[in-house]
Amino acid sequence: MSGASRSVAEIMSQPVVTASGAQSVADASARMREQEVGSVVVVDGDRPVGILTERDLVRMSAAGGAPTDTVAQWMTADPDSVAPDVDAVTAFATLAEHGYRHIPVVDDGRLVGIVSMRDLMRIAQIQPAENLAHEVPRGLEGVVVAETRIGDVRGTEGFYHYRQYNAVELAETRSLEDVWYLMHHGELPTMPERAAFAAEVRSLRCIPAEVQSALPEIARVASHAPPLDLLRTTLSLIGAALGFRPSLDLSAVELHEQAMRVCAVVPTLLCALYRLQHDLEVVEPRPDLAYAANYLYMMSGDVPSAEHARGVEQYLISTIDHGFNASTFTARVITSTGADLVAAVVGAIGALSGPLHGGAPSRALDMLDAIGTIDKADAWLRDAVERGDRLMGFGHRVYKTDDPRSVMLRSVAERLGGPRVELAKQVEQAAIDVLAELKPGRKLYTNVEFYAGVVMDTCGVSRDMFTPTFASSRVIGWTAHILEQAADNRLIRPSAQYVGVPPPQPVPPAG
Ligand SMILES: CC(C)(COP(=O)(O)OP(=O)(O)OC[C@H]1O[C@@H](n2cnc3c(N)ncnc32)[C@H](O)[C@@H]1OP(=O)(O)O)[C@@H](O)C(=O)NCCC(=O)NCCS
Repeated sequence: MSGASRSVAEIMSQPVVTASGAQSVADASARMREQEVGSVVVVDGDRPVGILTERDLVRMSAAGGAPTDTVAQWMTADPDSVAPDVDAVTAFATLAEHGYRHIPVVDDGRLVGIVSMRDLMRIAQIQPAENLAHEVPRGLEGVVVAETRIGDVRGTEGFYHYRQYNAVELAETRSLEDVWYLMHHGELPTMPERAAFAAEVRSLRCIPAEVQSALPEIARVASHAPPLDLLRTTLSLIGAALGFRPSLDLSAVELHEQAMRVCAVVPTLLCALYRLQHDLEVVEPRPDLAYAANYLYMMSGDVPSAEHARGVEQYLISTIDHGFNASTFTARVITSTGADLVAAVVGAIGALSGPLHGGAPSRALDMLDAIGTIDKADAWLRDAVERGDRLMGFGHRVYKTDDPRSVMLRSVAERLGGPRVELAKQVEQAAIDVLAELKPGRKLYTNVEFYAGVVMDTCGVSRDMFTPTFASSRVIGWTAHILEQAADNRLIRPSAQYVGVPPPQPVPPAG
């Protein structure tokens, strides 16, 4: 290891970001975010008495702690420390052995710095896989795998944001095109920028002629396939027809142009496939209609009411991005190989199609239909959970409190009215009660998918188009991440812990 001769004092970070035990966890985690560090050392004067790490925050959220809890309640008390004159190899071994990511540097009882696994790896090119594999949580829960400026989700606070803005506020006050601009340019558009952007993206809505002419045959061959599967296939075809090249070989400007093209064409492609599958004539996009109104128009052939267009638009805005969800991560992994932009989007569509990710809203509506009336809800839900089924539209990897998207969509559903809203609200409460009783401590609440189905159904989106509609907005988020990954790329190539039969076993003779 090349860092063997360097001491901890030479590589440690200072000043250390500290907190007091009496401070609230919310304050401490805000400080961690501001300072871009993964832990704070809890001090009494200049003496370290504990450490609060991102992992403690995950533990706290899983155990139902509140942001108002004190740091002392959730910190790891009396943390191990390292002396400044210890060499980097020994410090690395201590971190790896205990599974720590950060270790305070203490000289004569006084806190003088902090050394992180990242610091050590930066100087030492250590291969940590075999030492660290045991500490990776299943499903990578809580593991930070990248830095991003696009947005984030704060699970314990029930808050998420796009760039610097509260995403729910954007969905309540802005158009989809404004938020699309924000995701790709980092700022909301000024009035002239808004007009120029609308003109730019509306002109990109048309399907390339060579692909358009192949669509009827594709829809015929796979007439019963979910529209999302057909989107995957036909988007691949568009990438090939337009000659999309590996992102590694493209400039940021070229990649941005491709991203705009793909985001603009996805709704058109989806609606064309949907109509062809239903033996209907394809409806061309209308440049005078804004995104959501045009989407509903291309799907149904009728210009929607302003209320329905706005309801769908709010849903679309609220689902553009959501932290490092499975499909976004997939898009970034594929981009990290330098593959072309469409390859990354197609991979992301595959990830989104799973019921544990984006495939839930139609199932949530199916559940409402199966329950039928509120008097049957408790028994139906209880039975499902006792059987080991998951209630679709409930639970979330990150949110351990209300999903802000479900809160917003509930109010959109109430505003729009419709036959299912009252039943949905009552079933929601019954489901939360049943989950609290049968899955205590898991903190299972309504997620985005529950009211998504209700809203889309009221606005005339058919059930098989729910997840595709989700994809048509999420592609804006995926491509923002693709561009960010490509702009500062390193191949994402993690490791796994081998737990199979110990090798090498003798290879038996063939035959
Ligand atoms: C979204 C989801 C995949 C998150 O899963 P996760 O963070 O990996 O949570 P886990 O699968 O570890 O579940 C933790 C516990 O809660 C239970 N649980 C989670 N969601 C549940 C649900 N919707 N219904 C019933 N039980 C649920 C699990 O059975 C598990 O119980 P156990 O401890 O007895 O084994 C999960 O909540 C789910 O399957 N929800 C339903 C599908 C859905 O709505 N998807 C859309 C997501 S936006």
